[in-house]
Amino acid sequence: MKIAIGCDHGGLHLKQEITELVTTLGHEVEDFGTHSTESCDYPDIAEPVAHAVTEGKADRGILICGTGIGIGISANKIKGIRAALCHDSFSAKYSRLHNDANILTMGERVIGPGLAKDIVTIWLNTEFEGGRHARRVEKISALEK
Ligand code: RB5
Repeated sequence: MKIAIGCDHGGLHLKQEITELVTTLGHEVEDFGTHSTESCDYPDIAEPVAHAVTEGKADRGILICGTGIGIGISANKIKGIRAALCHDSFSAKYSRLHNDANILTMGERVIGPGLAKDIVTIWLNTEFEGGRHARRVEKISALEK
């Protein structure tokens, strides 16, 4: 898959580790920054990553900030985005199975790199279950109209 990835200054180090992992897993990564520890504003990163996903330039996105919250709230403002904050493997699995999450968000100040890598691996390897969940995801889309 093609994965769009981005972070603010609070997620820079974890983004580097996750980029390596995603590449090792055989995916193509497009990195939307940030590229330094200089303070920046997470909506400025969430927006291009979210649009890469909604425009089909990326299959899915991964966004990282200090908590994973601000960058996820921002991404969810873009029509068609279902960004899920996951700090455990169960949520990562079910955000794909039941919610068809197209962006994963995490907080570098919340979890360590080991758990984050497990979460990303599960999230990338899990497909949407469809069925009754498709109806619910369609209702989420209807809320955007
Ligand atoms: C930046 O200091 C921090 O607020 C940001 O990374 C994130 O945690 C916001 O939700």
